[in-house]
Amino acid sequence: MTRLYFVLCLVCSCSVSGQSPTFGLMGLKLNLKPQFNGSKQLDEILWKHNGNKVVEFDGIKQQEFGLFENRVTLDWISAELSITGLTLDDSGVYEVEVYTDKVLKRQTLNLEVLEKLAKPNIKCETSNDGEEATLTCSVESRQPQYLMYEWIYHGTGQRLTVPLSDKSKEYTCIVRNRLSNATATVTAKTCYPDEGVSALTISLIVAVVLLGAVIAVVVGIIYCKRYNKGLKNETTHNEEGTSLLHRTLTVPSDQRLGGELLYNNNTTSDLERSDTQNIELCKHEILVRD
Ligand SMILES: *[C@@H]1O[C@H](CO)[C@@H](O)[C@H](O)[C@H]1NC(C)=O
Ligand SMILES: *[C@@H]1O[C@H](CO)[C@@H](O)[C@H](O)[C@H]1NC(C)=O
Repeated sequence: MTRLYFVLCLVCSCSVSGQSPTFGLMGLKLNLKPQFNGSKQLDEILWKHNGNKVVEFDGIKQQEFGLFENRVTLDWISAELSITGLTLDDSGVYEVEVYTDKVLKRQTLNLEVLEKLAKPNIKCETSNDGEEATLTCSVESRQPQYLMYEWIYHGTGQRLTVPLSDKSKEYTCIVRNRLSNATATVTAKTCYPDEGVSALTISLIVAVVLLGAVIAVVVGIIYCKRYNKGLKNETTHNEEGTSLLHRTLTVPSDQRLGGELLYNNNTTSDLERSDTQNIELCKHEILVRD
């Protein structure tokens, strides 16, 4: 019942406006061609868009109006109107009147300018059991009434239910109006944004840990070198001091062996008492190098 009413209504509106619309694509050029069967220059032509003058020819020259200035060309024989740089606002009812051989003829044409479609977005929602997902294709549009969605090899419609067993299988959505189309392709992987994020997080953590380890090693080496340098200075200084002391002490006491033993004991115990194992390693290194 509603369907019949709808069809009747469509028929009515078509007969009212005279003709099914001509479609033009935004930004492009379009010709509106009335059927006057003329073979010679017309006496007068007037084109109107939604009641406003577009272009007028008085038999000698033509005048363009409003937003149509510099965008229209008019054929003075056929009355064909050509419009460039189509905008959505150019849609509507065009009426043309021609006057020739003292006869006025009138025709009406409908123009519908369609937008160029942008790349669609595909959204994925997984089912509760995680075995299926619903892909929804959509595109930003000011003319949703003209859009047709299709999943290539899977039929028409905005939604598509897919199994998640094969995550690398590709699904392509194509969105169309009468004059343009755009596609987007996804795999079931897009249904798992979390996995991608966690993989990224893990690799980031690994990178940070590695970087930390490298920094620790570099700092350790620098510290060790610095310490060695300091130790070297300190020991040479000590050696000078102790040898002087040793001489002054040993010469009068006349106990060379005991003095040497004392000297050795002093130096080793001083170092050992104040230092950790790490520093022992450093000391070892300096001994090997020396
Ligand atoms: C134009 O000519 C065709 C035949 O060539 C004719 O059928 C049609 O009625 C004519 N249209 C007008 C508006 O004179
Ligand atoms: C998409 O539009 C282009 C023109 O822009 C056309 O050549 C192509 O055949 C269309 N593709 C489909 C699948 O409709």
